Order: sequence, then structure tokens, then C-alpha cells
Amino acid sequence: MAIRVGFVGVGGIAKRHLGSSQKRDDIEIVGLADVNVDIAKEMAGQFGGNVYGSAVELFDKEKPDAAVICTPPFAHGDIEEEAAKRGIHMFIEKPVAVDLALAKRVKDAVDAADILVQVGYMFRFAKGVKKVKELLATRKVAMVQQHYYMPGMPAKGWWAKMDKGGGQLIEQATHMLDLGRFLAGDVIGVSGRTTQAHDWTPTSDEPPKPGLCSEYPGVDIPDTTALTMTYESGAIGTLSCSMVPQAKWDNGFKVIAEGLIITIENGSATWAGDEEGSEEGGEEWHNWVYYDFVDAVKEGRKKATVPYDEGVKSLAISVAGYASAEQGGASVNPNDLIKEAGMDL
Ligand SMILES: NC(=O)c1ccc[n+]([C@@H]2O[C@H](COP(=O)([O-])OP(=O)(O)OC[C@H]3O[C@@H](n4cnc5c(N)ncnc54)[C@H](O)[C@@H]3O)[C@@H](O)[C@H]2O)c1
Repeated sequence: MAIRVGFVGVGGIAKRHLGSSQKRDDIEIVGLADVNVDIAKEMAGQFGGNVYGSAVELFDKEKPDAAVICTPPFAHGDIEEEAAKRGIHMFIEKPVAVDLALAKRVKDAVDAADILVQVGYMFRFAKGVKKVKELLATRKVAMVQQHYYMPGMPAKGWWAKMDKGGGQLIEQATHMLDLGRFLAGDVIGVSGRTTQAHDWTPTSDEPPKPGLCSEYPGVDIPDTTALTMTYESGAIGTLSCSMVPQAKWDNGFKVIAEGLIITIENGSATWAGDEEGSEEGGEEWHNWVYYDFVDAVKEGRKKATVPYDEGVKSLAISVAGYASAEQGGASVNPNDLIKEAGMDL
């Protein structure tokens, strides 16, 4: 039997999940909710489903089995609380929130409900990454090196604002930080530096065009960030990210482990040393985190593969990075921030 799914926030990434929903005959798109009803109408034209101006309306009218929540980082909280109250399972796009106080609100709501919640950390599902996890099971990790370079800033109002999107470190580089946790374990210290290296001030009155921009009004986020991290295992790591306009996207990951050097790009991995090999991500690996959620709901699993708490732990590394940068690079333990926010993970 098909599971009945409602989408909340149907911009860029929702379009991917709507498209992948259509590829399975056991997913029925019953409703689309967006504060921008025009975009919901446009998506409904392509993918089906009834249109709503709010998540609550969608939940009450359609009574979906599951909600796919693809709102920007600040627009979490009420949506999850309302879904949890109604026993609706949730797939939540990363990052789970813009800060840890908001994450605590949602965690309380999802913990109190008997529902599955999966966070959209897609890299964990790629075949290349799974193979690396296997290789590391018997080898000590010395270092993980992560980077995320984007050639400009998405021209979406919320991206430019720290209190809305959380900046590149929370919004985007969280993919790499989560992958680091997945492969090397929890982080116990973060030291960070940030800068705004590029002048984003608009040179004309023309509104920014969709896509990546090199100028935008009121950018209050750093455009370049560097972190060093200490993992509980004793491994150390680095993350570099920047959205300063240049020629190309480049995000990736290297692991130095006893006897092996490993490179991960997208979901693919290559390794050399005491073993040599490579593994592709797999066809449409980006969709597997969502498909795994759907399977979990259908099978009535008790726990999601990437539960909400995992999202909180990865968010906390970014928050610790900014906190450290504010303190001139002093080491900040993400676990202390999680506890200070009232969470026990
Ligand atoms: N996993 C990935 O690879 C990936 C890729 C892109 C984006 N994302 C994540 O998905 C989220 C959304 O990003 P996007 O690029 O799709 O953003 P977007 O701006 O294109 O779309 C967000 C949509 O949410 C709507 N919205 C805002 N507040 C709402 C509310 N309270 N109720 C209902 N709708 C609301 C907006 O009107 C907009 O249509 C972000 O957290 C982002 O990090 C993940």
C-alpha cells in the first residue's frame, strides 16, 4: 500500500524529493504546503497533490502518514510540533534548525511522539561512503579533511542572513561535518575562524537573479570559514568552506587512516595503501536517504537510520565553530553547547 505524503516548503530541494516520489508507486503525494502559495501551485501542477498555505491546514485536511519538511533552517519548530502532535512521521531536510534552542523545541516534540524522524543527510547512504565506513571499521583514523566551496551565494533572501539560514557553515557545510561524524565519530572540540572576504554590496538597483549571485543586499554571514576539530577517538580534522565567487563548485573529503588514504567526492570513494580500490555512489544515491525513510515508515521500524538526535549533534559542530570564532578561536566542545541548550544526547 502507498504511504500518503505531504510536503511542507516546496522550493529547490523539495522539487528533488517530489520527483523521486513520483518514481515509486508506493508514495502518494497528497498535499503541498508553502507560505508562498504560488510556488505550491506550480509544484502541484508538475507533481500533483492539493495546495495549502500552511502545514497545519495540510495536516488537518489530508491526514498524511508522513511529512517531508523542506523549509529554510529558521522555519522549523511549529511545523514539527504540529506534525508530532498528530502522529505524523517526518523527513526533515538538514540542517534541523538554525540554532540549538530551536532544535531543543523540536526534539522535545518528536521525543514525546511515537513517530519516525529522519534527517536528510544523504551522503551516509552512498555506496562509496558505506564502503569507506567498512574500511575504517578495522583502521584507526588519524585525520579527516573536509571542504565545501560554492562559487557564489544562492540568491534566496534567507541565505544572506545568519538568523535565517545560519550561514554556509550551518546551512551547507553541515553535510561534510555530518559525514565526518559518521566516519570518524563524535567531535569534542572545535576551533574556528570566519571572515567576510568578498564585498557583496550591490552595484546596481536591479534585484538579484535566481541562482548563485556575487552581490546581494544585507549579507551578514561570513563567506569564508575554517575549522579545526578534535574527535573523541583522538583523530583530528579540518573543514574549509567558502562561497566567495570563483569558477566552480568543489566539495569533498579525505581521510587519512592507518595504512590508507581515502578520497570521497560526491558519493564516490577511492582509496590507496594496504588496499586499493574505488566505489561509485550508486545511481540516484541522493534519493536513498528519503527512500530509506519511506521504507522505514512502511515497515513500521522503531527507529530511523538518521534520527533527529544525529541532526542535532551535527548542527552543534557548526554552532561550536561560530562560537569559537567569536572567542578568537578558543576550543568549544559541541557537547557542552548541547547540554547548555537543555538536551541530553
Ligand atoms: N540535502 C541537500 O542536498 C539539500 C539541498 C538543498 C537544500 N537543502 C536544505 O533544504 C532546506 C530548504 O532549502 P531550499 O533550497 O529548498 O530553499 P527554498 O528557499 O528554495 O525553499 C524553501 C521553501 O520553504 C517555504 N517556506 C518558508 N517558510 C515556510 C513555512 N513556515 N511553511 C511552509 N513553507 C515555508 C518557502 O516559501 C520556500 O518555497 C534548507 O534547509 C536546505 O539546507 C538540502
